[in-house]
Amino acid sequence: MTKRVLTLVPALLLSLLINAQNLIIPKPVSERIGEGYFTLNENSSVTSNEKSAFNLNYLKGKLEAATGFKLDNKFTTDNSIILSISSDPSIKPEGYILDVDSSGVTIKASTSAGIFYGIQSLLQMMPASVYSGKSTAADNWQIPTTHIEDYPRFGYRGMMLDVSRTFFDAETVKKYIDWLSHHKINTLHWHLTDDNGWRVEIKRYPLLTEKGAWRGDNEALAPAFGSGRQRYGGFYTQDEIKEIVKFAADRNIEIIPEIDLPGHSKAVTATYPNVACDSNDNSLSVQGEGQNVWCVGKEENYKMLANIMKELSKLFPGKYIHIGGDEVNYTAWDNCPSCKALKEREGMTSNEELLNYFVRRMERIVEKNGKKMAGWDEILEGGELHKETRVYAWRSVEKGIESVKKGQPTIMMPGAYCYFDMKYTPLERGHNWAGIVSTEKTYSLDPTGTAALNEEEAPLIIGVQGALWTELLGWPAKFLDYQTYPRLTAVAEIGWSPQEIRNWDDFNNRLQKFHYNRMANMGISFRLPYPEVTYEDGALRAKLPYEWAVVRYTSDESEPTSLSRVYRGEIYTDKPERFRFATFYKDDLKSITVRASNADYKYLTPAVDITTNLEEGKNNKIENITDYKFDTYFRTTRKLKAGDHLTYTLKEPVKSTRITVESGMPNIDFYWINDGYVEYSYDGINFIKGDELKRGAATIFPKEPIKAVRIKVTAPNDGYIAAFRDLKIE
Ligand code: ACM
Ligand code: ZN
Repeated sequence: MTKRVLTLVPALLLSLLINAQNLIIPKPVSERIGEGYFTLNENSSVTSNEKSAFNLNYLKGKLEAATGFKLDNKFTTDNSIILSISSDPSIKPEGYILDVDSSGVTIKASTSAGIFYGIQSLLQMMPASVYSGKSTAADNWQIPTTHIEDYPRFGYRGMMLDVSRTFFDAETVKKYIDWLSHHKINTLHWHLTDDNGWRVEIKRYPLLTEKGAWRGDNEALAPAFGSGRQRYGGFYTQDEIKEIVKFAADRNIEIIPEIDLPGHSKAVTATYPNVACDSNDNSLSVQGEGQNVWCVGKEENYKMLANIMKELSKLFPGKYIHIGGDEVNYTAWDNCPSCKALKEREGMTSNEELLNYFVRRMERIVEKNGKKMAGWDEILEGGELHKETRVYAWRSVEKGIESVKKGQPTIMMPGAYCYFDMKYTPLERGHNWAGIVSTEKTYSLDPTGTAALNEEEAPLIIGVQGALWTELLGWPAKFLDYQTYPRLTAVAEIGWSPQEIRNWDDFNNRLQKFHYNRMANMGISFRLPYPEVTYEDGALRAKLPYEWAVVRYTSDESEPTSLSRVYRGEIYTDKPERFRFATFYKDDLKSITVRASNADYKYLTPAVDITTNLEEGKNNKIENITDYKFDTYFRTTRKLKAGDHLTYTLKEPVKSTRITVESGMPNIDFYWINDGYVEYSYDGINFIKGDELKRGAATIFPKEPIKAVRIKVTAPNDGYIAAFRDLKIE
């Protein structure tokens, strides 16, 4: 052997050890890698001493599907994977000890949950095809010698899914739960009702789902959020709910149902109108919904709520029921004789006190059914709560601290870190009212933070949760996956791993090097970062988002596909504006498409006049769409109707190859024109019909200098207002 080889071997070994150690998400509390391997083969066995066969069959099923081996159930001390429930008091609840040596694997835990989590860590030490069952000959079923001792930082590690605004069927919800469970998440907070649909069958009040689960032109609920005028909706039958609850429980996930009260209740007031206040209040909630609040002064409402909670409690065996409590539009109460009488009777002076009155009645109703109550952080206002009532801090970390200081068990889920309906970056789809929420931003949350909490207060922060509100999730396909992953993996590590061992670079390395592949094999269409492209000295340069990223590009303005050229270095061109770039992962996943951020893409800015039958309100005036500032818009005072029109007339005809007509808010896909088309004119008198608006937009390719462009509305839009934008003239 030459000296060169001698020095190479240990270096190679060392790098293998480090890589092997640095694999798992969420990062284990302690992990030691030794030398050697256990090799899974066709003679291996999987056994368990658990009463329930779920974990055993779960693991065996995954291994058999991926390897093609038929694994034995007979106990052997050699060549075996042993799942072992032990009364060892040193193993914490949900914790596990995972040992791998050349003779096999042992997962020891004091609970089935612990065994399940040991299995999750073991799966992450295997080829990612263990998730898909689609292994290749290159997959290596050797598992390195390892000793892991692991347990969670927080007992509550959650994800909230809103199924009211966008409905996801039972199969999709199960798949979603399965993905969460791979990340050691143990709670699904299921936002089952809101203004846009009631999604859980309540047998005593069938209209809640017969009517309240549907929106559209002739439905109880008005169209909303890009679903257009078609009938849109759905709900879960009680049988489906029970099946989903069981599916989740097997995977150590408790489901906490949320019935959002007393606001966010249009789906109720539209089907059982007596629930609302007796007032002609026409004010709107922050989401623009009228008459969506339960009257708190009508005694019969509490009977209905008690009946609903009774049925709900039977469907969900978990301890908590979430009653919402957020964003109540109080104006209805101000004008209602029943609410006013209640306020006077109880000597209350504020609406916060009225809310607290309602919340405390709900506490009693929920507790009568053997459950505890939970609510959004607004329930802290206006009065006391029962000691065990749980508060979900969504508005800020400070709200969570306030909650803890008041003695309430608290879940930290501040929007600025945990709201996955926010954009990952300014270029991507999503909301931005809580800021830009990159995966790194999410990861930076420490739920107990730097607040000075005493010994009684600190343990009241019982966990962390991600949240996905779904106004914008109707399209594109798999946007559910995109918005959730990889941000959920960051929440998983916040919730599980000790703060002292968490580090963004280390996490991001595990994520991109190993976990992308796992997520792809789980079937998750996760978000990929895009390349940063610049144009300088005649060359386009793409900065890869990670070292081994595959970036593809086109030079004709088309969307890159898996067949487009791979970027391998600077591209010299005098037409940088024609190039498009995207990151690809295994061909079927790609990032958003980008172009050079600094190439000169000035749109033309000819002087323009607007004529329209639409009125302007106090803000966001018509002049906003004549200034070619693309972040401003004209906001109507009402919903659109057929016959509405708006014409852009250019002072002088302009030579243009392409005009993009867009509607809706500039950065968020809200308030666009669903039904309508564009017309254009070369003389300002005779108009040529162009394309229908699709998702609020259409493109015109003029053949002569253009004089005017008109938008004609053919049916109401699905927002309560609409937004028009500047023309993009090229
Ligand atoms: C919330 O985002 N309204 C809880
Ligand atoms: Zn009332």
